[in-house]
Amino acid sequence: MVSFAPYFKGLRLAREDLVSPRSMPQMRGVMPEHVISEPVVIALDGPAASGKGTLAKAIAEHYGFAYLDTGSLYRGVAYLLLRAGADPANAAAAEVAARAFSLEAVEGADIRTREVGAAASVVAAQPAVRQALLDFQRDFARRPPRGAKGAVLDGRDIGTVVCPGATVKFFVMASPAVRAHRRFLELKAARPDLSEADVLADLEERDARDAARADAPMARAEDAELLDTTHLTIEAAFAAARRVIDGVVRRCED
Ligand code: C5P
Repeated sequence: MVSFAPYFKGLRLAREDLVSPRSMPQMRGVMPEHVISEPVVIALDGPAASGKGTLAKAIAEHYGFAYLDTGSLYRGVAYLLLRAGADPANAAAAEVAARAFSLEAVEGADIRTREVGAAASVVAAQPAVRQALLDFQRDFARRPPRGAKGAVLDGRDIGTVVCPGATVKFFVMASPAVRAHRRFLELKAARPDLSEADVLADLEERDARDAARADAPMARAEDAELLDTTHLTIEAAFAAARRVIDGVVRRCED
């Protein structure tokens, strides 16, 4: 496992910015190391089925970091609304569901269906829903569960809105045809009635909604590394991501 300890040395004092980064050298020796360190945060954004989830899990496992699939929050809210017979576009109902939401409430539920995915992107366009889910995501990054030294979050707005100060950011993409093929293979067993063209149409509709919404649209952060997985195996994409992450760590060690 790679050590991020050297990276911690020059970091800001938690998120509250009680002192500026430049004043930190004087603080060392005065304050215990654990007070001045903050977790490494790896942000992965990108369109549906771009490979960011697979990559995020592999990164989290390799570095021993905690992993949060932020799409599961929006999917979870959408799932609960659909199960209650509510319209995901109903802003008041969606806000109530998002405020009361916990991942435990959808444990074991199948939130990865086509219908839940579509409803999630409707729910996700509502600012009150995004606001309600923001603190949970930021807390996860700030204090990763089980004392992990870092957190990996994947979604659409992690590098731009949720964790704009993330240690390393990626924007993961792939051609629409490749993404549709990957998602088609995932859904095929449960939904033999769906064609690859149906899946492509779903993805394109969802991506268009996610990119066009006014609040926290899917976007590549200016400082995000672009990772095109169209022609990459999972192993090759992971190796490319690791090179970037390890490069950041090395620069911090210099
Ligand atoms: O990542 P996944 O495809 O599971 O996400 C489902 C939907 O949740 C997305 O289409 C998007 O509308 C929404 N989402 C979001 N912001 C995130 C993660 C997901 O708006 N950070």
